[in-house]
Amino acid sequence: MSIQFDEQAKLLTLETRSSVYQMQIDTLGYLRHLYYGRRVGPQNMSYTYRAYDCGFSGNPYELRRERSDSPDLMPQEYSSFGVGDYRLHSVAVVNADGSRCASLRYVEHEITEGKYIIPGLPAVYDNGGEAETLTVTLRDAVTGLTIRLRYGIFETLDIITRSAELVNEGTAAITLEKAASVCLEFSRDSWDLLHFYGRHCLERQPERAPIGNLITTVSSERGTSSHHHNPFVIVCDHDATEEQGDCFGAMLMYSGSFKAELERSQTGDVRLVMGVSDTGFSWTLSPGERFHTPEVILSYADGLTALSHNYHRVIRHNVCRGEHHLKRRPVLINNWEATYFNLSEEKLLAIAKEAAELGVELFVLDDGWFRGRIDDNAGLGDWFASEQRLPNGLHALIEKINALGLQFGIWVEPEMVNEDSDLYRAHPDWALSAPGREPTMGRNQLVLDMSRADVREYLYSCISTLLLENNISYIKWDMNRSLSDVYSKALPPERQGEVAHRYVLGVYELLERLTADFPHVLFEGCSGGGGRFDAGMLYYTPQIWCSDDTDAIERLRIQGGTSYGYPVSTMGAHVSASPNHQTGRATPIETRGIVAMSGAFGYELDLTKLSEEDKTEIKRQIKQFHEDEDLLHGGLYYRLSDVSAPLHYVAWQMVSEDKSRSLVNLVLRAPRPNAAPLRLRLRGLDPDALYRIDEDTPVCTGAALMCGGYTFPQMLGDYPSAQLHLTKIEDGRL
Ligand code: DGJ
Repeated sequence: MSIQFDEQAKLLTLETRSSVYQMQIDTLGYLRHLYYGRRVGPQNMSYTYRAYDCGFSGNPYELRRERSDSPDLMPQEYSSFGVGDYRLHSVAVVNADGSRCASLRYVEHEITEGKYIIPGLPAVYDNGGEAETLTVTLRDAVTGLTIRLRYGIFETLDIITRSAELVNEGTAAITLEKAASVCLEFSRDSWDLLHFYGRHCLERQPERAPIGNLITTVSSERGTSSHHHNPFVIVCDHDATEEQGDCFGAMLMYSGSFKAELERSQTGDVRLVMGVSDTGFSWTLSPGERFHTPEVILSYADGLTALSHNYHRVIRHNVCRGEHHLKRRPVLINNWEATYFNLSEEKLLAIAKEAAELGVELFVLDDGWFRGRIDDNAGLGDWFASEQRLPNGLHALIEKINALGLQFGIWVEPEMVNEDSDLYRAHPDWALSAPGREPTMGRNQLVLDMSRADVREYLYSCISTLLLENNISYIKWDMNRSLSDVYSKALPPERQGEVAHRYVLGVYELLERLTADFPHVLFEGCSGGGGRFDAGMLYYTPQIWCSDDTDAIERLRIQGGTSYGYPVSTMGAHVSASPNHQTGRATPIETRGIVAMSGAFGYELDLTKLSEEDKTEIKRQIKQFHEDEDLLHGGLYYRLSDVSAPLHYVAWQMVSEDKSRSLVNLVLRAPRPNAAPLRLRLRGLDPDALYRIDEDTPVCTGAALMCGGYTFPQMLGDYPSAQLHLTKIEDGRL
């Protein structure tokens, strides 16, 4: 049992392989957080909390004489606004009488086998029958607001998930102004925050800084999880490294506006509150109605690498779903950077022919194939093939591409509409826009109101028709602007604060329906590159286009930053042209291949313009990718360098779970004159096993390679790279 209840001490203890999470129901009914961290034996951790009142902290009415304790200092599992806790709160309400208080006290708890689900929202699922669920019910006695805190425990995965269900069990409406997914407390220590920021073409750049006394917020108000901030944060010991130190991850499984807030209490403890953003949010619960928060995936590990491994494992095996998530992914060619909007059947077929000869498996037709889409000012919403672009029709094109031995995939951007489209002309009210105002534009397009069932029905009909009438095995689901003017004509004024979240629920509902009805189709998520790279989308699309920046050198930081939370198999990565279209940088094809192979691999360049040498190299890369795919996508990932440090190189390594094979990747960002050969200490090997590397290197023990390292030959030129294949010698042990 990974969940235990100690009746006498009123302790609830959750255990995973390497961590313990403990809470206690106190005599007043507060659900206190006692501990989360490395295992500490069968210990009641309540001794760590000494109640006191540090002044100007509210006391519960029951303690008015003693003034001995305050929710303002007490670590809590779900904090509420208005009743004496002045720190970040998890829930804020407006009650029917106008009061803004909710005092949450314990009612009951239940331990059940299996993992809870969250209606309408993606959630980590139980794969091996190991999960257990704890549900703790808290209630505000005055209004009847009832909150069920759910904890999913995955013992061997070292994962604890959390979500809250808020139910109005009273008799009058309650408006939620905030409903977070998690409140997590870290006792006084020296903590750092590691988070992932960026912009279009520069996503998930790691930044690490000490948590000081300012309230820190990592958030997106864009209606999507965004390029700007990723809904994943790590709180770690100031001294934590890749290899050791307390590291806690919190990953929100949500694709809309979010907030992760951190605050030190007056006495130095750190509270993290994370969930749907409360900016512009309100949700009315009539009696009997309920609201489910998205899930937060928590993990504790000793060292950043172990934390990443926990997330990689859970995302690959318990977040991504469907036929494809563990299957070999087809090597694809995407025509976007080859043609942009300048496409014709003839050009597409020429690229496809080359692709087939090189060993590519899937041809993806990107933007520009549908009616009215001559540039990015028109056509979105009209998901019917353009007669001008494809005079013989889409079906004929697909047949010709299939005849070359390639599968066919297609780009769509379902959530969007151009004013210049038949859809908008017929249904202007289907776009988000506020009454009496010109809408804010982004890429000259509007956002469809995905909270509306009629909009979703239209989109389902268009996409399912495409899939039923054509032999399509892949869909790239793009989304190319942030939300604004978030107003739905289908909802009354008092419910407009619900639209942003209902939008996300609508996207999930449509994706759920399509992925269930077309299980053979591989969906790839995309939002102007990696603007919606989150665990929510990964539940429907097992890979996401990582960035619109395809420059291999830039990708080192983008993919390296992404690797803290997300596995290689989820990161769409393509070899593109040199000089690169985003940066103008020239990079060798070998280096572009090495970087893209550490991802859901493909090509995105005009294959008809390649030299014979490049063609030979591409054939070699595809062959190698097939040989190494298990290692690349299923192996354990080690960062051998800090991608955000000003180092002249970036290196990373994959090791098979059984440690019998490993692949080391090295790219020089800047060659230096007269530099000593680079020596790297490898990681994750079996110390006692013997490994063969290449002809020039003697067989070495894992211990030697991990302690003494491997010295690379000198590398010169523009952005050179190297790969080492390590193979454990059969029965070769010391
Ligand atoms: C943004 C995507 O990230 C690109 O790969 C491409 O599909 C364009 N949209 C097409 O408009």
